[in-house]
Amino acid sequence: MSLNLRSVGILGTGMCLPEKVLTNMDLEKMVDTSDEWIRTRTGIVERRIADPHTPTSVLAEKAARMALENARIKAQNIGLIIVATVTPDMVFPATACLVQDRLGATSAAAFDLEAGCSGFIYALASGAQFVASGIYDYVLVIGAETLSRIVNWEDRNTCVLFGDGAGAVVLGPVPEGYGILGMDLGSDGGGADLLDVPAGGSLNPASEYTVKNKLHFLRMNGNEVFKFAVRIIGDSALRALSSAGLEKENIDFLIPHQANIRIIQSALKRLKISEEKVYVNLDRYGNTSAASVPIALHEAYREGLIKKDNIVVLVAFGAGLTWGAAVIRWSADI
Ligand code: ACO
Repeated sequence: MSLNLRSVGILGTGMCLPEKVLTNMDLEKMVDTSDEWIRTRTGIVERRIADPHTPTSVLAEKAARMALENARIKAQNIGLIIVATVTPDMVFPATACLVQDRLGATSAAAFDLEAGCSGFIYALASGAQFVASGIYDYVLVIGAETLSRIVNWEDRNTCVLFGDGAGAVVLGPVPEGYGILGMDLGSDGGGADLLDVPAGGSLNPASEYTVKNKLHFLRMNGNEVFKFAVRIIGDSALRALSSAGLEKENIDFLIPHQANIRIIQSALKRLKISEEKVYVNLDRYGNTSAASVPIALHEAYREGLIKKDNIVVLVAFGAGLTWGAAVIRWSADI
């Protein structure tokens, strides 16, 4: 069998953030915490919170519209929409189908993908296969979350960390040598209980008991997730580089998952790259889970920090446990 795979790159990016800002000072009034603790332990200063009438699909749709406009691609030409999320509008139908309808993407297949905070990288890898194989020309990949809906606002260990938002990219064919050059995806379900929302699925369906015991909220073993993140973020980036035939010295720009500034600093040390080569916005948005990498990518590109021919590494880790990294040579025509 001969495979004539096409090169696949990012043709346009977009993002959407709710207007409401929740600062560390606001949180001081809600739980036993302090601005100083949150800043020094995480680097987060404020985060965005969606209003009660804005579900994940609305943020996803707005980010998608911006990405389509920037890519100069019509919604009708999109062959597939993937929404990476842990906070879908409903258990089913897929949030991607709601987005497909509102965009008028009449030729698009649509599905959701769940891989925790690594979801966007998983979705990028999945969407890229359809373009590479020639099955679809254009794929919309969205990371969108309303984490505020599943955070226990009485738990200071977790509620200070997360925020809402969405980021999107349009994938399409690019000249040979550009686009996604290498990937690394992985999982370790042995760590499933380190970060979960235990109820609401087939294991613990919603009941008076699950509600009473707050089992519909996110639970996390922060220390263990921290140790895992510090190890995996460098490992995964290096494996993706190696699959592209590149080394850490080749990195022009790094877009890491925005969970904790100390995790990002450990990655810089491991990859031996300077602070100017990494994008950080967790101070403004906190951890937006699957939306964090595409939001950061959009901002970095719009700020002119990513230029043609740059080698850009995206890397994330999250619930599952999961992790993923992608190495991209930024294409000429975006
Ligand atoms: N304010 C004040 N004190 C707090 C707060 C808070 N918001 N949260 C925890 N503390 C307390 C703890 O209770 C503990 O007190 P104790 O010693 O009396 O028990 C103390 O601070 C220290 O707690 P640690 O957990 O040791 O603090 P640490 O420095 O490890 O930071 C943190 C905690 C920020 C959660 C860190 O472990 C972390 O960032 N982990 C990774 C989290 C992450 O990235 N999660 C997302 C994964 S991606 C996804 O898929 C969603």
